[in-house]
Amino acid sequence: MEQILVTGGAGYIGAHTLVELLSSGLAPVVVDNLSRSSHRLLDGVKKITGKDIPFYPVDCTDESGLKDVFSRHPQITGVMHFAAFKSVNESVEQPLLYYRNNVDSVISLLEAMHSAGVHRFIFSSSCTVYGQPEVIPVDEQAPFLKPESPYGATKQMSERILEDAVKAFPRLKVVSLRYFNPIGAHPSGLIGELPLGTPSNLVPYLTQAAIGKRKKLTVFGSDYQTPDGTCLRDFIHVVDLAKAHVSSLKKIDELPNRFEAFNLGTGKPCSVLELIRLFEKETGVPVPHEIGPRRPGDVEKVYADPSKSHRVLDWRTELTVAEALRDAWNWEKEMAHETH
Ligand code: NAD
Ligand code: WQD
Repeated sequence: MEQILVTGGAGYIGAHTLVELLSSGLAPVVVDNLSRSSHRLLDGVKKITGKDIPFYPVDCTDESGLKDVFSRHPQITGVMHFAAFKSVNESVEQPLLYYRNNVDSVISLLEAMHSAGVHRFIFSSSCTVYGQPEVIPVDEQAPFLKPESPYGATKQMSERILEDAVKAFPRLKVVSLRYFNPIGAHPSGLIGELPLGTPSNLVPYLTQAAIGKRKKLTVFGSDYQTPDGTCLRDFIHVVDLAKAHVSSLKKIDELPNRFEAFNLGTGKPCSVLELIRLFEKETGVPVPHEIGPRRPGDVEKVYADPSKSHRVLDWRTELTVAEALRDAWNWEKEMAHETH
């Protein structure tokens, strides 16, 4: 059976993708050094699917460790590369850690793939590569602006490395998936986001405030040039995002270019305040919150033009933001239950 190497498979988006790969008849092999996760989500994937997944606690900057995984699994025909550090704030404090981990991982993985004769690479990129785009909804042609953070720079650099690599390795094909704001959890309540420490992303903070783990959510700024003054984002259900990886794998061989980038978003803007109101409406649970100052580095508004993904990957979102918020809430309650 065809196997797919999933780096970072113990993390939030990787774990949701494992479920979709297994339900499409593909066999994932996971590499994760558990630096930002634990076995918790892998256990959840097993509960959902009933399948055992080969797991290697290898660091993606360790080329020989990766080569060893490829040699144990000659059936691997493609790689989905989720493994990276993702905190914008932490990347400002520890830029070298971010460059080393995120950029070096891409290089080591490309080298190991090259020697193993594996040619399909699906990369976890981010809308952060666009910064504050001049035209929104933003499409894949938009220029990369100066990155707001070392984290953003690692995604721009990784894409650049991948674009250069396809020129040097004639069989390599790369799909770079630019995620907008992934939120929610698996509808089973068995896997979801597990932020380490205080969450910096909106939805995990919101659900923790709603359950009483945090005093209140601070809305960062209400004086933006947007309908209600709060920032606009494109929130996408993590299960829809996961499915896009399976669609990409199905299409990668037919793509005319050997490097292609795709936006993964709904195309519909939603403000921070709208999201809070929607959560309250869907769950009946109030979110204690207050308006605070702007967070430095935030872009005012960004949402996707996902038409290329619709057309070329034959993928579109099927779940709503309301469903994502209900699923995120179920997951938060599940975790509260586990810790009591
Ligand atoms: P996550 O932190 O939940 O998962 C990342 C996983 O990678 C973790 O399990 C971690 O232990 C592992 N990892 C990190 N460095 C590693 C290394 N050197 N070797 C092996 N394993 C390593 O993050 P996520 O939200 O699932 O994000 C997955 C990918 O998607 C990342 O590349 C991230 O930058 C990208 N992304 C995430 C978001 C988001 O909002 N969650 C948005 C855009 C892009
Ligand atoms: C969303 C909105 C905040 C927390 C980041 C990365 C991006 C991508 C996704 C990886 C913003 C507001 C947040 C809070 C708030 N990640 N907010 N109170 O900043 O859009 O994107 O994650 O690639 O690269 O930059 O996501 O969830 O942090 O914020 O008001 O406590 O919610 O100001 O407007 P962001 P986010």
